[in-house]
Amino acid sequence: MSTLLYVQSSLYGAQGTSSQLAESFVGQWLSGNPGGRVIRRDLAADPAPHLTAERFQAFNTAPEARTPEQQAVVAYSDALIDELRSADTIVLGVPMYNFSVPSTLRTYFDHIARAGVTFRYTSAGPEGLLAGRRAYVFVTRAGVYGAAADTQVPYLRQFLGFIGIESEFVFAEGLGLGEESRRRSLGEARAQIADLAAIAQAA
Ligand SMILES: Cc1cc2nc3c(=O)[nH]c(=O)nc-3n(C[C@H](O)[C@H](O)[C@H](O)COP(=O)(O)O)c2cc1C
Repeated sequence: MSTLLYVQSSLYGAQGTSSQLAESFVGQWLSGNPGGRVIRRDLAADPAPHLTAERFQAFNTAPEARTPEQQAVVAYSDALIDELRSADTIVLGVPMYNFSVPSTLRTYFDHIARAGVTFRYTSAGPEGLLAGRRAYVFVTRAGVYGAAADTQVPYLRQFLGFIGIESEFVFAEGLGLGEESRRRSLGEARAQIADLAAIAQAA
């Protein structure tokens, strides 16, 4: 059975524009995978705690030496990773906030990037341990950014690639540049979503 993990990061939850685009993809994916399972994670409603030295130390402590507090920290991270591992398709809804990804998404990444668990270093370089999964990322922005000014996509592609996940992006840009710009951009994104959903079903 195919499983899709949908992580939304808009501070508006399901009402966010990025969430609505991502949800539209999820709906189309479900139509093509009627028996498919969808797991939803809303980082606005349920944010991951910031990484601290204590939390990071828990990751780096041998399992048999962990205190009960450290075990709880690792169990939380393990649960997020198990959720990710259980999915073959990952969907991310990602608005641009202050030229970056939402801080909730950045913090979530801190819990799923675990040496020896989701990536490892080898003599040939880093190796992602979540290979075989594909992410579809729905990005929304008020402004328009050329490749040189895009501070989100290279980062997201690099992070996901680092843990072994290939990624595809759909943009809705210029959403704050007037009604015509917003309408055109959302229309283009929706057309791309229909194409991507068809490809995801064929895969
Ligand atoms: C706190 C905050 C910061 C923002 N920063 C930017 C920004 O740096 N660049 C930009 O183009 N748009 C920025 N925006 C606009 C959002 O990217 C845009 O409204 C987007 O559609 C929001 O997606 P959402 O509805 O899924 O949250 C910002 C919006 C908020 C609420």
